[in-house]
Amino acid sequence: MSRPTDKDDPNMTESKVALITGSAKRVGATIAKKLHAQGYSILIHYNRSKTEALALTDSFNQLRHNSAHCIQADLNNMDDVVLLAKEAVQPFGRVDLLVNNASAFYPTPVTESSQAQWDELINSNLRAPYFLCAELSETLKENNGCIINMIDIHAQRGLPGHPIYSIAKAGLEMMTKSLAKELAPKVRVNGVSPGAILWPEADLTAEAKQAIVDKTLLGKIGQATDLAETVNYLANASYVTGQILAVDGGKSLYSH
Ligand SMILES: NC(=O)c1ccc[n+]([C@@H]2O[C@H](COP(=O)([O-])OP(=O)(O)OC[C@H]3O[C@@H](n4cnc5c(N)ncnc54)[C@H](OP(=O)(O)O)[C@@H]3O)[C@@H](O)[C@H]2O)c1
Repeated sequence: MSRPTDKDDPNMTESKVALITGSAKRVGATIAKKLHAQGYSILIHYNRSKTEALALTDSFNQLRHNSAHCIQADLNNMDDVVLLAKEAVQPFGRVDLLVNNASAFYPTPVTESSQAQWDELINSNLRAPYFLCAELSETLKENNGCIINMIDIHAQRGLPGHPIYSIAKAGLEMMTKSLAKELAPKVRVNGVSPGAILWPEADLTAEAKQAIVDKTLLGKIGQATDLAETVNYLANASYVTGQILAVDGGKSLYSH
């Protein structure tokens, strides 16, 4: 699948290259596995999950020689964001697909929230995705590339107890539509809005989980593979841009 194109640099390949932020584990890792299986070379971005990132990179390279690299960056730090974009084009000489998946997520009741929480939630969920799009726009344009933003159905209605996260995701939704205009016709920009897929790492009670399932038309939570399939669909949907696809088992339609 990966054919050298530059005799002086054996790393240069004709495979499409995907950068997936926050892809050492959970949903991001599942998206990376799906795209790797489709023939993409994969750039795994991580912040704290170095062990998982190295293991996933190694597993991809065992399946296909020189098909994955991993890059560390704290998306709360603007210097790291710019460096991540620069480092992303090094291993394979291009980026065709950017999946903005990394996200800080925790409650911030309005009377108890801090500026540090505002910064961390807005920076990881909105500022970093925006500047990654900007910094990578040249290589994405050169390759008729594509951006997919992982949003949240709560961008529309606000998740109780999580106002800053909800504000950040609402911004990411508008960013998807705005950048679809700004980067057209070369680069398509779409979003995926998950409902309940993987429970947050800070665990919920059984009752809280059941209450969420009870409000989902399909009567169950989704799988990370449901999101990965949707990302793969949007990556190939050559006449679709500026769209946000809910993958929520009908939760956003629930009305009683
Ligand atoms: N899980 C769901 O059911 C669900 C529901 C709605 C929306 N979503 C959205 O779908 C996406 C994936 O969900 P998920 O549950 O798999 O996400 P997650 O586990 O909560 O977070 C994914 C990764 O984001 C990275 N991250 C957080 N803060 C960062 C920072 N400051 N700098 C760099 N990386 C940072 C972490 O990387 P490290 O571990 O390397 O530090 C983490 O592993 C997210 O955008 C989420 O908002 C998910």
